[in-house]
Amino acid sequence: MNVDLYERFWMWSSGGIIAVFIASIIYTSAAQSLQPPSHVETIDPQTARTSPGFAQPSVTLNADGSATVHIMAQMFAFLPTEIRVPRGQPITFRMTSPDVIHGFQIVKTNGNAMVVPGYVTQFTTRFDTPGEYLIVCNEYCGLGHHIMFSTLIVEDDVEMAGDVGAGAGQ
Ligand code: CUA
Repeated sequence: MNVDLYERFWMWSSGGIIAVFIASIIYTSAAQSLQPPSHVETIDPQTARTSPGFAQPSVTLNADGSATVHIMAQMFAFLPTEIRVPRGQPITFRMTSPDVIHGFQIVKTNGNAMVVPGYVTQFTTRFDTPGEYLIVCNEYCGLGHHIMFSTLIVEDDVEMAGDVGAGAGQ
């Protein structure tokens, strides 16, 4: 079968683009741990604000040095507005929304998830570089979408993380 030169060119470049996409999925999931959160846990959005963990969303330090962070993503703020976590430890984020779909993206890290009313989004990650990270909502959620952000502070001093986490509920 005779295939015209340009036709062959476009066939091979389309195939090449697909190969690049598949390779980038494999690379980001294997080397950069970018995976969709697979946790499936339901919660009643009507009572989410008073549910265990979400009534006073904050950082909980666990005995093994890891931390669990509860976050309420709502119009138009993340509670707590500032999160302090220990460096180099597994940090499990648990979050939900009482109103509409929000996004939760920790800029310049692999922390990025959708927060859907009725579900608890959960993922675990680790931060090896201390510093201040911006958390933004990356799903359009209404007129105040652009002011919906908070701050993640990664630090070596685990003690401090406990102090601030306990008081940063609102
Ligand atoms: Cu919340 Cu955009």
